[in-house]
Amino acid sequence: MTIAYDTARVRADFPILSRVHHADVPLVYLDNAATSQKPQAVLDAVDHFYRHDNANVHRGLHLLSEAATEAYESARRKVAGFINARSWREIVFTRGTTESINLVAQAWARTHLRPGDIILSTVMEHHANIVPWQMVTAATSAEVHYIPLEPDGALDLDAVKQALDAGRVRLLTVTHASNVLGTVNPIRKLAQMAHAAGAFILVDGAQAVAHQPVDVAALDVDFYAFSGHKMCAPTGIGVLYGRREILEAMPPWMGGGDMIEQVTLAGSTYAAPPNRFEAGTPPIAGAVGLGAAVDYLTGIGMEAVHARVSELTAYTLAWLADIPGVQVIGRAPHRAPVVAFTVKGLHAHDTAQMLDLSGIAVRAGHHCAMPLHTDLGLPATVRASLALYTSRAEIDTFARALRDIAHVHA
Ligand SMILES: Cc1ncc(COP(=O)(O)O)c(C=O)c1O
Repeated sequence: MTIAYDTARVRADFPILSRVHHADVPLVYLDNAATSQKPQAVLDAVDHFYRHDNANVHRGLHLLSEAATEAYESARRKVAGFINARSWREIVFTRGTTESINLVAQAWARTHLRPGDIILSTVMEHHANIVPWQMVTAATSAEVHYIPLEPDGALDLDAVKQALDAGRVRLLTVTHASNVLGTVNPIRKLAQMAHAAGAFILVDGAQAVAHQPVDVAALDVDFYAFSGHKMCAPTGIGVLYGRREILEAMPPWMGGGDMIEQVTLAGSTYAAPPNRFEAGTPPIAGAVGLGAAVDYLTGIGMEAVHARVSELTAYTLAWLADIPGVQVIGRAPHRAPVVAFTVKGLHAHDTAQMLDLSGIAVRAGHHCAMPLHTDLGLPATVRASLALYTSRAEIDTFARALRDIAHVHA
């Protein structure tokens, strides 16, 4: 039996969606790839934590500290279940995808890379999956190489194979879904290829985890990084999934409270993962909010969310294909709910500003993917990105406004 997806009911869970924009038009929020909105359940969880359970974690022997620790650790167990990690020990809380990737670059790569080793990345990456590797290879005399793209925006898999066959790749680091092209990469296949070549694989899951089921065991990845704020949770909380044996062999990155076993003035020994990688007071309320977001998304069902956003993406693409002067960037068959485009005769920023006057929030620029835009020969694109609460009516409003703008400037 198929249960119809009830968009109106989902929308009612998000208070911000009923606000007006520029005093008189309803908000059409299509900037979900930048950050998602938060459902009442997440707002309530954070509010409840501060009103009833607030204390520092892992430190006090008093009741409140135990309650805060339980709330924090229970969020970790929920996240582990959400992505099918084998153990909560494989879930490190960070500030977001960027910090998760930097953690691997500084703790794993810095100690493992030798001169001549290769980090294999791709042309479609967000800066968060480029710059940390440039920093660490500069410090180790290793190299970063980039896989080119097919004309439709898919990854060139022959080039991946060729690069891996050379035998010097230590890590393949790739996005699950492009934040510009929408391309969803074949992660399981890439993991098999990387492992066959003796390399690890890290996946930037920032644009995937809110829109499709993610099973790190089935994907067989070594690291998976994502941000809470893009999946209905607060800002300031993120996740690094790491295969247990790899995390156990990794030295810490940041030092401080909570990540140690013993400290003397002569030196320190370190706690087991995940605490080893969580120096200092963590984002406790953020983790609680993330746990609530996991419960919320699980309640709807990630398969249902995926079916819904896929259908709505196809609807958006069909609309845009019909507007003269609008060119969609990226045509890979498997795609996330991200649609980047240009409008003939208009700079991306002007298009975004005109849409904003109609209440439509989109993003314009390079979307932290400058190398990709250079590759595409475009200084900037406009990006409309959808979420589980986006309605067809919103896509209609957006597409009609875009049609009018494109018509005037054709
Ligand atoms: C593909 C991708 N990777 C990484 C990031 C960085 O995420 P954060 O800023 O939450 O660390 C983003 C954010 O837009 C992204 O889209």
